[in-house]
Amino acid sequence: MDTAENKPAPAAPKQPAGLEGVVAAQSSIGDVDGTNGVLIYQGLDIHDLAEHSTFEEIVFLLWHGRLPKREELEALRGELSSAMKLPGEIIELLRNTPRDSEPMDALRTAVSALAFYDEGVRDLSREGALRTATRLTAQLPVVVASFARLRDGRQLVDADPSLNLASNFLYMLKGERPTEREARILDVCLILHADHELNASTFTARVIAGTLADVYGAVTGAIAALSGPLHGGANTNVMKMLLEIGSPDKAEEWLQDALARKKKIMGFGHRVYKTEDPRSVWLRRFSKEVGEERGETRWFEILERLRELMFASKKLYPNVDYYSGSVYYQFGIPLDLFTPIFAVSRISGWTGHILEQYANNRLIRPRAEYVGPRGVRYVPIEER
Ligand code: COA
Repeated sequence: MDTAENKPAPAAPKQPAGLEGVVAAQSSIGDVDGTNGVLIYQGLDIHDLAEHSTFEEIVFLLWHGRLPKREELEALRGELSSAMKLPGEIIELLRNTPRDSEPMDALRTAVSALAFYDEGVRDLSREGALRTATRLTAQLPVVVASFARLRDGRQLVDADPSLNLASNFLYMLKGERPTEREARILDVCLILHADHELNASTFTARVIAGTLADVYGAVTGAIAALSGPLHGGANTNVMKMLLEIGSPDKAEEWLQDALARKKKIMGFGHRVYKTEDPRSVWLRRFSKEVGEERGETRWFEILERLRELMFASKKLYPNVDYYSGSVYYQFGIPLDLFTPIFAVSRISGWTGHILEQYANNRLIRPRAEYVGPRGVRYVPIEER
Protein backbone atom coordinates (compact mmCIF):
# COMPACT_ATOMS: atom_id res chain seq x y z
CA MET A 1 0.00 0.00 0.00
CA ASP A 2 1.22 3.53 -0.79
CA THR A 3 1.57 5.90 2.08
CA ALA A 4 1.52 9.66 1.97
CA GLU A 5 5.35 9.66 2.35
CA ASN A 6 5.91 7.00 -0.24
CA LYS A 7 3.62 7.99 -3.08
CA PRO A 8 4.39 7.36 -6.73
CA ALA A 9 5.09 10.29 -9.02
CA PRO A 10 1.76 11.57 -10.39
CA ALA A 11 0.91 10.45 -13.91
CA ALA A 12 0.80 13.05 -16.70
CA PRO A 13 -2.32 15.19 -16.15
CA LYS A 14 -5.36 14.27 -18.23
CA GLN A 15 -6.51 17.89 -18.28
CA PRO A 16 -4.32 20.83 -19.30
CA ALA A 17 -2.91 22.72 -16.31
CA GLY A 18 -4.62 26.02 -15.57
CA LEU A 19 -7.71 24.92 -17.56
CA GLU A 20 -5.93 25.98 -20.73
CA GLY A 21 -8.24 25.73 -23.73
CA VAL A 22 -11.16 24.49 -21.60
CA VAL A 23 -14.52 26.02 -22.51
CA ALA A 24 -16.29 26.66 -19.20
CA ALA A 25 -19.28 28.79 -20.18
CA GLN A 26 -21.33 30.05 -23.10
CA SER A 27 -21.34 33.81 -23.44
CA SER A 28 -22.48 36.37 -25.95
CA ILE A 29 -20.57 39.21 -24.31
CA GLY A 30 -17.17 39.07 -25.91
CA ASP A 31 -14.74 36.86 -27.76
CA VAL A 32 -10.97 36.64 -28.08
CA ASP A 33 -9.47 35.18 -31.25
CA GLY A 34 -5.94 34.56 -30.01
CA THR A 35 -4.60 33.34 -33.35
CA ASN A 36 -5.61 36.37 -35.35
CA GLY A 37 -5.44 38.93 -32.54
CA VAL A 38 -9.11 39.89 -32.73
CA LEU A 39 -11.21 41.03 -29.77
CA ILE A 40 -14.94 41.72 -30.04
CA TYR A 41 -17.56 42.97 -27.60
CA GLN A 42 -21.04 41.76 -28.65
CA GLY A 43 -19.79 41.36 -32.21
CA LEU A 44 -18.18 44.82 -32.45
CA ASP A 45 -14.45 44.98 -33.13
CA ILE A 46 -12.33 46.56 -30.37
CA HIS A 47 -10.58 48.84 -32.88
CA ASP A 48 -13.92 50.30 -34.01
CA LEU A 49 -14.98 50.78 -30.41
CA ALA A 50 -11.69 52.40 -29.38
CA GLU A 51 -11.93 54.75 -32.36
CA HIS A 52 -15.56 55.80 -32.05
CA SER A 53 -17.18 54.76 -28.79
CA THR A 54 -17.18 55.91 -25.16
CA PHE A 55 -16.86 53.88 -21.96
CA GLU A 56 -20.48 54.58 -20.99
CA GLU A 57 -21.62 53.17 -24.36
CA ILE A 58 -19.54 50.07 -23.71
CA VAL A 59 -21.14 49.61 -20.28
CA PHE A 60 -24.57 49.64 -21.93
CA LEU A 61 -23.34 47.30 -24.69
CA LEU A 62 -21.98 44.72 -22.25
CA TRP A 63 -25.14 44.76 -20.14
CA HIS A 64 -27.76 44.92 -22.89
CA GLY A 65 -26.12 43.29 -25.90
CA ARG A 66 -26.40 46.30 -28.23
CA LEU A 67 -25.26 49.90 -28.46
CA PRO A 68 -27.59 52.40 -26.73
CA LYS A 69 -29.85 54.88 -28.46
CA ARG A 70 -29.15 58.51 -27.51
CA GLU A 71 -31.89 58.64 -24.85
CA GLU A 72 -30.79 55.29 -23.38
CA LEU A 73 -27.23 56.55 -23.10
CA GLU A 74 -28.40 59.75 -21.44
CA ALA A 75 -30.50 57.72 -19.00
CA LEU A 76 -27.52 55.50 -18.12
CA ARG A 77 -25.29 58.57 -17.64
CA GLY A 78 -27.90 60.03 -15.28
CA GLU A 79 -28.19 56.78 -13.29
CA LEU A 80 -24.41 56.50 -12.98
CA SER A 81 -24.16 60.11 -11.85
CA SER A 82 -26.81 59.71 -9.17
CA ALA A 83 -25.24 56.48 -7.88
CA MET A 84 -21.77 57.94 -7.37
CA LYS A 85 -22.13 59.20 -3.84
CA LEU A 86 -20.65 56.79 -1.30
CA PRO A 87 -22.36 56.08 2.03
CA GLY A 88 -20.67 58.04 4.86
CA GLU A 89 -19.75 54.74 6.53
CA ILE A 90 -17.69 53.74 3.49
CA ILE A 91 -15.82 57.05 3.56
CA GLU A 92 -15.11 56.39 7.25
CA LEU A 93 -13.98 52.86 6.43
CA LEU A 94 -11.57 54.25 3.83
CA ARG A 95 -10.40 56.92 6.26
CA ASN A 96 -9.60 54.19 8.80
CA THR A 97 -7.91 51.88 6.31
CA PRO A 98 -4.13 51.86 6.98
CA ARG A 99 -2.52 54.44 4.69
CA ASP A 100 0.05 51.98 3.42
CA SER A 101 -2.57 49.41 2.37
CA GLU A 102 -2.61 48.30 -1.22
CA PRO A 103 -5.37 50.28 -2.97
CA MET A 104 -6.63 47.01 -4.50
CA ASP A 105 -7.13 45.65 -0.97
CA ALA A 106 -8.89 48.85 0.08
CA LEU A 107 -11.12 48.59 -3.00
CA ARG A 108 -11.89 44.91 -2.34
CA THR A 109 -12.85 45.62 1.27
CA ALA A 110 -14.92 48.69 0.39
CA VAL A 111 -16.85 46.84 -2.32
CA SER A 112 -17.62 44.02 0.09
CA ALA A 113 -18.77 46.55 2.71
CA LEU A 114 -20.91 48.49 0.21
CA ALA A 115 -23.31 45.53 0.34
CA PHE A 116 -24.24 46.52 3.93
CA TYR A 117 -25.70 49.79 2.68
CA ASP A 118 -27.71 48.44 -0.24
CA GLU A 119 -31.15 47.17 0.71
CA GLY A 120 -31.49 45.54 -2.70
CA VAL A 121 -28.40 43.38 -2.21
CA ARG A 122 -30.33 40.09 -2.31
CA ASP A 123 -32.40 40.99 -5.35
CA LEU A 124 -30.82 38.86 -8.05
CA SER A 125 -33.56 39.50 -10.65
CA ARG A 126 -32.24 41.11 -13.85
CA GLU A 127 -33.66 44.43 -12.72
CA GLY A 128 -32.13 44.15 -9.23
CA ALA A 129 -28.76 42.95 -10.47
CA LEU A 130 -28.64 45.72 -13.09
CA ARG A 131 -29.31 48.28 -10.38
CA THR A 132 -26.40 46.91 -8.32
CA ALA A 133 -24.21 46.80 -11.44
CA THR A 134 -24.98 50.50 -12.03
CA ARG A 135 -24.16 51.39 -8.42
CA LEU A 136 -20.86 49.52 -8.48
CA THR A 137 -19.81 50.90 -11.87
CA ALA A 138 -20.45 54.41 -10.54
CA GLN A 139 -18.88 53.83 -7.13
CA LEU A 140 -15.65 51.97 -7.96
CA PRO A 141 -13.91 55.08 -9.34
CA VAL A 142 -15.10 57.10 -6.35
CA VAL A 143 -13.71 54.52 -3.90
CA VAL A 144 -10.32 54.47 -5.67
CA ALA A 145 -10.02 58.27 -5.90
CA SER A 146 -11.27 58.75 -2.32
CA PHE A 147 -8.82 56.26 -0.84
CA ALA A 148 -5.96 57.87 -2.78
CA ARG A 149 -6.82 61.31 -1.40
CA LEU A 150 -7.59 60.20 2.16
CA ARG A 151 -4.30 58.35 2.55
CA ASP A 152 -2.49 61.56 1.61
CA GLY A 153 -4.57 63.56 4.08
CA ARG A 154 -6.28 65.51 1.29
CA GLN A 155 -9.89 66.73 1.14
CA LEU A 156 -12.28 64.66 -0.94
CA VAL A 157 -13.46 66.09 -4.24
CA ASP A 158 -17.13 65.55 -5.12
CA ALA A 159 -17.88 64.08 -8.52
CA ASP A 160 -19.03 66.55 -11.16
CA PRO A 161 -22.26 65.26 -12.75
CA SER A 162 -21.43 67.01 -16.03
CA LEU A 163 -18.33 64.82 -16.52
CA ASN A 164 -18.15 61.27 -17.84
CA LEU A 165 -16.69 58.45 -15.74
CA ALA A 166 -13.14 58.79 -17.05
CA SER A 167 -12.98 62.57 -16.56
CA ASN A 168 -14.66 62.34 -13.19
CA PHE A 169 -12.13 59.81 -12.01
CA LEU A 170 -9.20 62.09 -12.91
CA TYR A 171 -11.04 65.08 -11.44
CA MET A 172 -11.81 63.33 -8.13
CA LEU A 173 -8.26 61.98 -7.94
CA LYS A 174 -6.31 65.12 -8.76
CA GLY A 175 -8.76 67.86 -7.83
CA GLU A 176 -8.47 69.49 -11.24
CA ARG A 177 -10.26 68.89 -14.49
CA PRO A 178 -8.27 66.81 -16.98
CA THR A 179 -7.50 68.15 -20.43
CA GLU A 180 -9.76 66.87 -23.19
CA ARG A 181 -6.89 64.78 -24.52
CA GLU A 182 -6.16 63.14 -21.13
CA ALA A 183 -9.85 62.45 -20.60
CA ARG A 184 -10.22 60.85 -24.04
CA ILE A 185 -7.11 58.71 -23.60
CA LEU A 186 -8.34 57.41 -20.24
CA ASP A 187 -11.80 56.85 -21.73
CA VAL A 188 -10.28 54.67 -24.47
CA CYS A 189 -8.17 52.84 -21.85
CA LEU A 190 -11.41 52.01 -20.02
CA ILE A 191 -12.96 50.79 -23.28
CA LEU A 192 -9.96 48.54 -23.95
CA HIS A 193 -10.00 46.94 -20.48
CA ALA A 194 -13.78 46.49 -20.18
CA ASP A 195 -14.13 42.82 -21.04
CA HIS A 196 -11.97 39.90 -22.02
CA GLU A 197 -14.08 36.78 -22.07
CA LEU A 198 -13.32 34.23 -19.34
CA ASN A 199 -10.17 35.81 -17.90
CA ALA A 200 -9.31 34.79 -14.33
CA SER A 201 -11.27 37.54 -12.55
CA THR A 202 -14.36 37.23 -14.75
CA PHE A 203 -14.33 33.47 -14.28
CA THR A 204 -14.09 34.05 -10.53
CA ALA A 205 -17.09 36.41 -10.69
CA ARG A 206 -19.11 33.81 -12.63
CA VAL A 207 -18.22 31.00 -10.23
CA ILE A 208 -19.38 33.10 -7.27
CA ALA A 209 -22.53 34.31 -9.05
CA GLY A 210 -23.22 30.69 -10.05
CA THR A 211 -23.80 29.81 -6.39
CA LEU A 212 -26.46 32.59 -6.38
CA ALA A 213 -24.34 34.69 -4.06
CA ASP A 214 -24.95 38.44 -4.55
CA VAL A 215 -23.27 40.80 -7.01
CA TYR A 216 -21.10 42.46 -4.32
CA GLY A 217 -19.66 39.08 -3.34
CA ALA A 218 -18.95 38.16 -6.96
CA VAL A 219 -17.24 41.51 -7.62
CA THR A 220 -15.25 41.31 -4.37
CA GLY A 221 -13.85 37.95 -5.46
CA ALA A 222 -13.13 39.29 -8.94
CA ILE A 223 -11.15 42.21 -7.50
CA ALA A 224 -9.03 39.78 -5.48
CA ALA A 225 -8.33 37.74 -8.61
CA LEU A 226 -7.46 40.83 -10.64
CA SER A 227 -4.96 42.05 -8.06
CA GLY A 228 -2.46 39.24 -8.71
CA PRO A 229 0.69 40.03 -10.71
CA LEU A 230 -0.14 37.39 -13.33
CA HIS A 231 -3.40 39.23 -14.07
CA GLY A 232 -4.17 42.95 -13.56
CA GLY A 233 -1.31 43.47 -11.13
CA ALA A 234 1.10 43.31 -14.07
CA ASN A 235 0.58 46.95 -15.15
CA THR A 236 2.07 48.37 -11.94
CA ASN A 237 4.96 45.92 -12.14
CA VAL A 238 5.77 46.97 -15.69
CA MET A 239 6.20 50.57 -14.55
CA LYS A 240 8.34 49.44 -11.61
CA MET A 241 10.49 47.56 -14.12
CA LEU A 242 10.87 50.68 -16.30
CA LEU A 243 11.90 52.75 -13.29
CA GLU A 244 14.40 50.08 -12.30
CA ILE A 245 15.91 49.93 -15.81
CA GLY A 246 16.02 53.72 -16.00
CA SER A 247 17.25 54.23 -19.56
CA PRO A 248 16.99 52.47 -22.96
CA ASP A 249 20.71 51.60 -23.09
CA LYS A 250 20.34 49.54 -19.89
CA ALA A 251 17.40 47.51 -21.21
CA GLU A 252 19.36 44.68 -22.84
CA GLU A 253 21.62 43.95 -19.88
CA TRP A 254 18.67 44.13 -17.48
CA LEU A 255 16.63 41.73 -19.59
CA GLN A 256 19.41 39.21 -20.09
CA ASP A 257 19.99 39.13 -16.37
CA ALA A 258 16.28 38.76 -15.60
CA LEU A 259 15.83 35.96 -18.14
CA ALA A 260 18.95 34.20 -16.87
CA ARG A 261 17.32 34.22 -13.44
CA LYS A 262 14.14 32.73 -15.03
CA LYS A 263 12.10 35.78 -14.11
CA LYS A 264 8.76 36.32 -15.80
CA ILE A 265 8.89 39.67 -17.58
CA MET A 266 5.76 41.58 -16.67
CA GLY A 267 3.54 42.70 -19.55
CA PHE A 268 4.59 39.87 -21.90
CA GLY A 269 2.80 36.69 -22.86
CA HIS A 270 -0.83 35.70 -22.77
CA ARG A 271 -2.81 32.53 -22.28
CA VAL A 272 -4.97 33.14 -25.37
CA TYR A 273 -3.14 35.56 -27.70
CA LYS A 274 -0.42 33.92 -29.73
CA THR A 275 0.02 37.11 -31.71
CA GLU A 276 -0.22 40.82 -30.96
CA ASP A 277 -2.88 41.76 -28.41
CA PRO A 278 -5.10 44.26 -30.31
CA ARG A 279 -5.49 46.36 -27.16
CA SER A 280 -1.75 46.89 -26.90
CA VAL A 281 -1.77 48.51 -30.36
CA TRP A 282 -3.78 51.40 -28.92
CA LEU A 283 -1.91 51.59 -25.66
CA ARG A 284 1.41 51.61 -27.51
CA ARG A 285 0.20 54.56 -29.56
CA PHE A 286 -0.87 56.42 -26.39
CA SER A 287 2.40 55.65 -24.62
CA LYS A 288 4.35 57.11 -27.55
CA GLU A 289 2.10 60.17 -27.96
CA VAL A 290 1.91 61.05 -24.27
CA GLY A 291 5.70 60.70 -23.97
CA GLU A 292 6.25 62.97 -26.97
CA GLU A 293 3.71 65.53 -25.75
CA ARG A 294 5.47 65.69 -22.40
CA GLY A 295 8.98 65.63 -23.84
CA GLU A 296 9.81 62.41 -21.95
CA THR A 297 10.23 59.56 -24.44
CA ARG A 298 12.44 57.48 -22.15
CA TRP A 299 9.74 55.11 -20.97
CA PHE A 300 8.47 54.43 -24.45
CA GLU A 301 11.99 53.85 -25.73
CA ILE A 302 12.69 51.29 -22.98
CA LEU A 303 9.37 49.59 -23.74
CA GLU A 304 10.20 49.37 -27.43
CA ARG A 305 13.70 48.06 -26.81
CA LEU A 306 12.39 45.36 -24.46
CA ARG A 307 9.67 44.49 -26.96
CA GLU A 308 12.24 43.87 -29.72
CA LEU A 309 14.48 41.87 -27.42
CA MET A 310 11.66 39.73 -26.00
CA PHE A 311 10.39 38.93 -29.46
CA ALA A 312 13.87 38.01 -30.65
CA SER A 313 14.63 35.78 -27.67
CA LYS A 314 11.23 34.38 -26.59
CA LYS A 315 8.81 35.13 -29.46
CA LEU A 316 6.51 36.73 -26.89
CA TYR A 317 4.31 39.77 -27.56
CA PRO A 318 3.29 42.53 -25.16
CA ASN A 319 -0.15 42.21 -23.56
CA VAL A 320 -2.66 44.83 -22.38
CA ASP A 321 -0.64 45.61 -19.25
CA TYR A 322 2.58 46.46 -21.07
CA TYR A 323 2.04 50.06 -22.17
CA SER A 324 -0.83 51.28 -19.95
CA GLY A 325 1.35 51.99 -16.90
CA SER A 326 3.61 54.39 -18.82
CA VAL A 327 0.50 56.37 -19.85
CA TYR A 328 -0.96 56.54 -16.34
CA TYR A 329 2.44 57.38 -14.86
CA GLN A 330 2.78 60.35 -17.16
CA PHE A 331 -0.70 61.48 -16.15
CA GLY A 332 0.71 61.77 -12.62
CA ILE A 333 -1.22 58.76 -11.30
CA PRO A 334 0.50 56.82 -8.48
CA LEU A 335 1.78 53.38 -9.49
CA ASP A 336 -0.39 51.45 -7.08
CA LEU A 337 -3.56 52.88 -8.66
CA PHE A 338 -2.90 51.33 -12.07
CA THR A 339 -4.54 48.00 -11.20
CA PRO A 340 -7.53 49.73 -9.51
CA ILE A 341 -8.02 51.63 -12.81
CA PHE A 342 -8.21 48.24 -14.52
CA ALA A 343 -10.98 47.34 -12.03
CA VAL A 344 -12.78 50.65 -12.67
CA SER A 345 -13.10 49.47 -16.27
CA ARG A 346 -13.49 45.70 -15.84
CA ILE A 347 -16.44 46.17 -13.48
CA SER A 348 -18.49 46.56 -16.68
CA GLY A 349 -17.43 43.16 -17.99
CA TRP A 350 -17.68 41.45 -14.60
CA THR A 351 -21.22 42.67 -14.09
CA GLY A 352 -22.15 41.82 -17.69
CA HIS A 353 -21.02 38.24 -17.04
CA ILE A 354 -22.75 38.14 -13.64
CA LEU A 355 -26.03 39.22 -15.31
CA GLU A 356 -25.54 36.55 -17.97
CA GLN A 357 -24.80 33.92 -15.32
CA TYR A 358 -27.90 34.75 -13.25
CA ALA A 359 -30.06 34.74 -16.40
CA ASN A 360 -29.20 31.13 -17.22
CA ASN A 361 -27.64 29.76 -14.07
CA ARG A 362 -26.22 26.39 -13.30
CA LEU A 363 -23.80 25.91 -10.40
CA ILE A 364 -20.19 25.84 -11.66
CA ARG A 365 -18.66 22.83 -10.00
CA PRO A 366 -15.88 21.07 -11.91
CA ARG A 367 -13.91 18.03 -10.77
CA ALA A 368 -10.29 17.65 -9.75
CA GLU A 369 -8.12 14.84 -11.08
CA TYR A 370 -7.12 13.15 -7.84
CA VAL A 371 -3.42 12.30 -7.77
CA GLY A 372 -3.04 11.62 -4.04
CA PRO A 373 -2.78 8.24 -2.27
CA ARG A 374 -5.77 6.00 -1.53
CA GLY A 375 -6.35 3.40 1.17
CA VAL A 376 -4.04 5.09 3.70
CA ARG A 377 -4.51 3.65 7.21
CA TYR A 378 -5.31 6.12 9.99
CA VAL A 379 -2.42 6.08 12.48
CA PRO A 380 -3.26 7.24 16.01
CA ILE A 381 -1.33 10.37 16.96
CA GLU A 382 0.87 8.68 19.58
CA GLU A 383 2.09 6.14 16.98
CA ARG A 384 3.11 8.66 14.27
N1 COA B 1 8.34 36.34 -19.35
C1 COA B 1 9.17 35.32 -19.62
N2 COA B 1 8.73 34.13 -20.07
C2 COA B 1 7.42 33.98 -20.25
C3 COA B 1 6.50 35.01 -19.98
C4 COA B 1 7.01 36.22 -19.52
N3 COA B 1 6.19 37.25 -19.25
N4 COA B 1 5.25 34.59 -20.26
C5 COA B 1 5.37 33.34 -20.68
N5 COA B 1 6.67 32.97 -20.68
C6 COA B 1 7.21 31.68 -21.08
C7 COA B 1 7.13 30.70 -19.89
O1 COA B 1 8.27 30.74 -19.10
C8 COA B 1 6.92 29.40 -20.60
O2 COA B 1 8.15 28.97 -21.11
P1 COA B 1 8.58 27.44 -21.00
O3 COA B 1 7.54 26.68 -21.79
O4 COA B 1 9.94 27.42 -21.58
O5 COA B 1 8.54 27.11 -19.53
C9 COA B 1 6.05 29.76 -21.81
O6 COA B 1 6.35 31.13 -22.08
C10 COA B 1 4.55 29.61 -21.52
O7 COA B 1 4.24 30.38 -20.36
P2 COA B 1 3.16 30.01 -19.27
O8 COA B 1 3.51 30.72 -18.02
O9 COA B 1 2.97 28.54 -19.21
O10 COA B 1 1.88 30.66 -19.91
P3 COA B 1 0.49 30.85 -19.22
O11 COA B 1 -0.52 30.84 -20.30
O12 COA B 1 0.31 29.91 -18.08
O13 COA B 1 0.61 32.31 -18.56
C11 COA B 1 0.69 34.63 -18.35
C12 COA B 1 0.15 33.47 -19.17
C13 COA B 1 0.07 35.91 -18.87
C14 COA B 1 0.30 34.44 -16.88
C15 COA B 1 2.23 34.69 -18.49
O14 COA B 1 2.56 34.97 -19.82
C16 COA B 1 2.86 35.70 -17.55
O15 COA B 1 3.15 35.39 -16.39
N6 COA B 1 3.06 36.96 -18.03
C17 COA B 1 3.59 38.00 -17.16
C18 COA B 1 2.48 38.61 -16.33
C19 COA B 1 1.55 39.46 -17.15
O16 COA B 1 1.96 40.28 -17.95
N7 COA B 1 0.26 39.27 -16.91
C20 COA B 1 -0.79 40.03 -17.57
C21 COA B 1 -1.58 39.16 -18.47
S1 COA B 1 -2.73 40.08 -19.43
